[in-house]
Amino acid sequence: MFADRVLSGMRPTGSLHLGHYHGVLKNWVQMQHEHECLFFVADWHALTTHYDNPQVIEQSVWDMVVDWLAAGVDPAHATLFIQSRVPEHAELHLLLSMITPLGWLERVPTYKDQQEKLSEKDLSTYGFLGYPLLQSADILIYRATQVPVGEDQVPHIEFTREIARRFNHIYGREIGFEEKAEAAVKKLGSKKAKLYAELRTRFQEQGDDEALESAKALLDEQQSLSHGDRERLFGYLEGSGKMILSEPQAMLTVASKMPGLDGQKMSKSYNNTITLREDEASVSKKIRTMPTDPARIRRTDVGNPDRCPVWQLHQVYSSEQTKQWAEQGCKSAGIGCIECKQPVIDAVLAEQRPMRERAQLYLDDPALVRNIIADGCEKARKLAGETMRDVREAMGLSYG
Ligand code: TRP
Ligand code: SF4
Repeated sequence: MFADRVLSGMRPTGSLHLGHYHGVLKNWVQMQHEHECLFFVADWHALTTHYDNPQVIEQSVWDMVVDWLAAGVDPAHATLFIQSRVPEHAELHLLLSMITPLGWLERVPTYKDQQEKLSEKDLSTYGFLGYPLLQSADILIYRATQVPVGEDQVPHIEFTREIARRFNHIYGREIGFEEKAEAAVKKLGSKKAKLYAELRTRFQEQGDDEALESAKALLDEQQSLSHGDRERLFGYLEGSGKMILSEPQAMLTVASKMPGLDGQKMSKSYNNTITLREDEASVSKKIRTMPTDPARIRRTDVGNPDRCPVWQLHQVYSSEQTKQWAEQGCKSAGIGCIECKQPVIDAVLAEQRPMRERAQLYLDDPALVRNIIADGCEKARKLAGETMRDVREAMGLSYG
């Protein structure tokens, strides 16, 4: 098995486009072979901003899963599920809300930013304020080690780490912790126990972060430790409490440079997208009618690729040779814009063909998709249930 567990979610608020493919999905497809991966439909998150228009969520959920599968996300490698089908997320969100200072939520940069950006919506709600905490619950409930995010979401991961630390600090104390931790160290066997102790000292006395990481890696490899002992040993490294929730790392993904049909970033709100499985005729038409260098009015006018959105698509889709041909042809008026666009059209269609084919399989038999999600939800619930058992116990809720 993999040592890392990657978790990521996506909001179902409309159809996915090539920007999602180049910015997120390609990355998921790659990661599913390198890590244990959990990918989920963040339908409750979508409600925080679309509570007055839930139809769009309902319509997007299954389409989005089909889009993931079309893009090559493989249920044999990754666990796919729907957030609202794992109600433990809500339970953890509620329990974490007890210890979450309001100020922490108000200070999350996306809170004010999004309220301003989506000013047509009333986002002065409890749900919207609490949305980063819901995200923390999503992450912490699976003890995810890595969360792939863009730059704007990094503060959410930092917030999640602080929540985990606060939780462990408040609920991680147990009677006789030191003795129990020392006993757990012995269970590592003499060689590893010695190494653990050395690394712990190096971290605690010299603040050596590498030593901390090595010690954590050492613990990750220990298959035979009980869950309680593992928590104690993780907690013992850094402080003096059990580590019930573990701190995730942000896995910074490079922002997609996918340009839209007008040269701005591809985005639904700019109305410049090509959807993931858009039909061929429509794709061809959209690219054929794309704006080009505005100074190139007649076929005989020379153009400047740097002022042309088609040129940006060449950067994503074309070989060096094709790019040279386009650049020279443009600057010398040797080719027309329609000619210049053809290789881009061909490349987009070629990229989409396998996606459309894979999707067809699922469109012909929707039960396949339902089953994939049912399996994924079951796996996710099992993992979430394990964390919740520890959380309830730590918070004094395991009576009855
Ligand atoms: N916040 C993410 C977004 O708005 C979606 C999301 C919800 C998420 N929970 C998550 C991403 C957990 C990563 C991990 O797109
Ligand atoms: Fe743009 Fe190509 Fe036309 Fe030049 S030839 S303006 S790069 S579409």
